[in-house]
Order: sequence, then structure tokens, then C-alpha cells
Amino acid sequence: MDKIIKTTGFAEDTLIGLSSKPKYLLSKYFYDESGSRIFEEIMRMPEYYLTDCELEIFENYKIEFADQFFSPDKGFQLIELGAGDGLKTKVLLSHLFKNGVDFTYIPIDISRESMEKLKQDIHKRLPGLDVREQIGDYLDLIPLLNGSIPKIVLFLGSNIGNYSYEESLTFLRQLRSILNAEDKLLIGFDVKKDPEIILRAYNDPYGLTAAFNLNLLSRINDELDADFNTDNFIHQEVYDPYTGTAESYLISTKDQQVHILDLDRTIHLQENERIYMEMSQKYDETMIKTLAGNSGFRIINNYYDKRSWFVDSLWGLNSSRDFNNHSDPYQK
Ligand code: AVI
Repeated sequence: MDKIIKTTGFAEDTLIGLSSKPKYLLSKYFYDESGSRIFEEIMRMPEYYLTDCELEIFENYKIEFADQFFSPDKGFQLIELGAGDGLKTKVLLSHLFKNGVDFTYIPIDISRESMEKLKQDIHKRLPGLDVREQIGDYLDLIPLLNGSIPKIVLFLGSNIGNYSYEESLTFLRQLRSILNAEDKLLIGFDVKKDPEIILRAYNDPYGLTAAFNLNLLSRINDELDADFNTDNFIHQEVYDPYTGTAESYLISTKDQQVHILDLDRTIHLQENERIYMEMSQKYDETMIKTLAGNSGFRIINNYYDKRSWFVDSLWGLNSSRDFNNHSDPYQK
């Protein structure tokens, strides 16, 4: 009898990625329980400046954000995509809550554990705040929310950077198509800067980013019955200052074979062969403006930290519908 091959999204994507040339895996699968824990540690490292920069922006501009989001009679829905531990958002939530602003917080994430943790934490710190967490895919869930109450969508932490420019355009166009004229998007971009600073954030001295990447091999071992030996791989980060793309790889340190029983496959890796793991795109202001314009948004304001290393960009909907046709130098 033929072996039954698992066909979950994770199994299928792993099979496709490891059968491709060059091999790749999808970083959206980094976030199992231990991956999410490692990511929380990464966010606490001083080298991973992104978190501190965005926290500073939220502390400095929470009053202005509250003014921008305020809607006089209907209140608003504050929807956070990929909320995780909500570290930066809590600064804003607490300001809105203490000032009696009428809003509902709707964090959306694929991780049930993160959502439970976040909800409990908010209940403890801000008892009475209306939190309606949703577990699942952002674009499926937003249309199910109350259509008559204005929506403020938060997409923070440079999460957009884990999409390629083309994927970002597609995602943002889809998002725009399910938003209404008065809705807004606050989106966090990591800014192009000294390559040394970027490489230090993704090539940390504690080995956390390496562990974050290697954890995906362990997840494949656990969930798809594979035999990756994580000692046979090293992590490598490269950054191209011209395009602003940081890329993460795992390199095979020897010729090796890996068996993935649930996929009924043996994967061959040559010495020094790389598996492409993650992209973390960095932006400049022109690129952000082009991305906004070509996905049907307009920039209301850009909020930077004091070093201009990170920007939270507030977007409204552009009323023109013909945003698909512009030439775009950033598209490949
Ligand atoms: C979640 N995302 C924005 C992080 C980033 O910076 O690309 C994930 C990460 N990868 C390695 N370190 C952090």
C-alpha cells in the first residue's frame, strides 16, 4: 500500500520548499510554542533594536495616535494583526483606557497560546477593557468584524518585512479591499541603516537567532517525523544595503541525508548548501510611499524614533481605485 503523505499546510509547504532548488522553508512556521518563546527573547536583546525603537515611538506619540484614531460617536475597533505579546500596543491601550476612550481591542494571531496570555495580561492590567481576541488568518477575520464601526488596523514590529515587496503589495491590496473609507492602518517598517547595526540584530552573540532558525528543523522532526541533526547546520545572515533585504540561511556543514517519514522523502544536502529561511526587508521613505500609493493607501503621517531607525507609518485609504497600474521600480 502507498504510504499516506500528510497534507497539512505545514507538511505540504515543507515538502515543496525542501524539494525546490535552492531549498527554502517558510518563516511563518517559526512560531510554534518554543519558537514564540525564542522570539520573545530576541525582542528583549539590546541588539534587536526594533522593539525598543517602536516602544519609544508609542510612548512619544500615544496622545497623537489617540487623536488620530478618535471617532466621535461610534467609537472604533483597534485591530492588531499578529499581536504576539502586544508589548508596544499596551502603551497605547493603557493611555486610551485611562482617558475613557470608547474602543474595542481585537488582537488577531495564529497562536492560541499567545492570545490567551495576552488577554489574561490585559485583564490584569486594564480590567474592564473590551478585548475580543481572534485566532486565525487576518484577511479572513477582518470582514467578519462589525462593518459600521471604524477600524484602526495595527500591523507593527516590521512584520511586513517578512514578506517580499511583491507579497506586501498583494497583502496590502487585499487589506485595502476589505476596509472602509474612514478606516486607517498604522504599519511599522524597519528603516535602512548602517549594515553593521542590522547584521548585529540578526547575527546576535547569544545564538538566539540561530536557535530561532534551527527550531524550525526541530519542529519538522517533531511534527513530520524527520531526523534533522541541528548540529550539522550553521546560521548565516546576509544584508544587501542597496535593496534593504536581510536574508537568513541555514548552511549544511557536511554532505548529509535527512529522512522525513511523514512526507516519505529523503532530502540530500551537500556540504555548504543553504536553506533559505527568512527575509527581513528594510525600507526607506520613498519605498514606503511607493508601497502605500500602489496598494491604494495614502500616508497621513510618519512617526520615527529619535534615531530614525524605525517608523510607524499612518495610512488612510486613497479614494482613487486605479492604483494597480502605476509603474513601480521596486517590483521585480
Ligand atoms: C517578526 N519579524 C518582524 C522578525 C524580523 O525582524 O524579521 C523576525 C525575526 N527574525 C529574526 N529575528 C527576528
